[in-house]
Parts: sequence; structure tokens; C-alpha cells
Amino acid sequence: MSTKNSLPTHVAIIMDGNGRWAKLRGKERYEGHIQGVESVRRVVRAAADTGVKYLTLYAFSTENWGRPAEEVEALMTLFCSCVINETPELISQGVKVNIIGSRARFSDEVNARLNEIEERTAGGQVLNLILALDYSSRSEITKAVRDIAGKVACGELKPEDISEQMISQELYTAAIPDPDLVIRTSGECRLSNFLLWQASYAEFYFPQTLWPDFTEDDFREALEVYASRERRYGIV
Ligand code: IPE
Ligand code: IPE
Ligand code: MG
Repeated sequence: MSTKNSLPTHVAIIMDGNGRWAKLRGKERYEGHIQGVESVRRVVRAAADTGVKYLTLYAFSTENWGRPAEEVEALMTLFCSCVINETPELISQGVKVNIIGSRARFSDEVNARLNEIEERTAGGQVLNLILALDYSSRSEITKAVRDIAGKVACGELKPEDISEQMISQELYTAAIPDPDLVIRTSGECRLSNFLLWQASYAEFYFPQTLWPDFTEDDFREALEVYASRERRYGIV
């Protein structure tokens, strides 16, 4: 049975192009990241207004630790200041924030801020905002396999009882429906280790726009493109 779509329940965005945006203006890369926060604000508002229920933003990949120390440091500072500055507005908009990814490498201060935003927005009922930080889909799947293997090793589970649903439940995204639409800005057409399992039947959209230039209208246009697609799930 094929399905015509209306509104995606879950939109996931690979926010790419901050560095190029800055370079085009003769600025430092971190200035592109600062400007990218404006786009985050716009897109959160647009998602809440349009009735999208889950919005996942890829903000920092595990591979991004390999960037120059100054850039990583600037991003950590930005994550902390965003928690301080944005939390009141998120609460008033009814946004509930969840962080996915590994928390092991973040400093105590960053982890405290991330816990704070999750705790303070826990009552939000309009939009679930999922921030992927130190996220690697392959690490996530590897961790799930390890956890399941542990259950098999201690006799709690039989190999033949391992199901797709069980694997989904072992991922960071256990409580979150799979993304319907994945957007990557800046014209790059790759997943860069993002939601490999979860996006198996997502629709993809790759606008040329650099993330700091991405507007509410661009988000709405992505929803229109999605609505025009036919999802077939392998069936005619
Ligand atoms: C995305 O923008 C933000 C992060 C990865 C943190 P980039 O920093 O990758 O920007 P480009 O791709 O170099 O332009
Ligand atoms: C992916 O973008 C990660 C985020 C947007 C957070 P990158 O810019 O790091 O990915 P590559 O290096 O182009 O694949
Ligand atoms: Mg990039």
C-alpha cells in the first residue's frame, strides 16, 4: 500500500554549511555556528507552528571531535550559552528537549547544562526537540548489539528472539518514531553517520541553502516537497 503524505511526524535535520557561510563572509568558522543558532530558533518555531511533533537536529557528530581544538571549544561554549539563553523561550513554546548521543566526552559543565535543559523543558507538550550531540549512528548500533549480546550471554534472551523492534528499543531513539523526512542543508548529499537504522524509509531532501541562511519558509518548502512524495515501502 503506497501512502501520500501530509505532514511528517518527525523531521530530522543535518544542519550543515556553517563554516562555508562564515568563509564566504571572511569570518571565522565559529561565527557561522553562532549564526546557525538563529536558524535553529526559526526552525523550532516553524516546526511547532506547523504541527510537526518531533524535530531532531544533528548538532555535533562524534567525528566532529576531530576538528581543530578552537572550533570544538567554541561549539562547547555555544551549547552552554544556548541552554542559558534559549531555555525560557523553549519552555514558553511547549518544547521538550531530549539529548541523544554519548555523553562521556563532554565536560562536567556541558553535561550539567544538557541535563538542565532536559529537566527544565520536561513538561513541554507541543514539540519534541531532539538534539544529537556526540552522536554516531554506528556507535549507537554497536552499543545496542553489545547490550543485546550481554542478554544472550547471561541466558536472558535467545538469539532467535532478537527482533527489529528489539534493536530499535536499544537505540537512543527508543521512544521516538523513525524520521519521515531527513533534510541536509548546504548541498551535501550524505548521511555522515546520522540515524542509519532509523532513516531506512525516510524521504530525503537536500537544499543548497547553507544552514545559517535556512528560514522558516525553507522549512515549510521542505514540508511541501515531502507532501508531494509518494512513499511506497517496497510495495506497488
Ligand atoms: C555544520 O556546519 C555544523 C557542525 C558540523 C557542527 P559545518 O561546520 O560542517 O560547516 P561546513 O560544512 O564546513 O560549511
Ligand atoms: C555532519 O556534518 C555533522 C553535523 C551537521 C553535526 P559534517 O560537516 O561534520 O559532515 P561531513 O564531514 O561533511 O561528512
Ligand atoms: Mg559540514
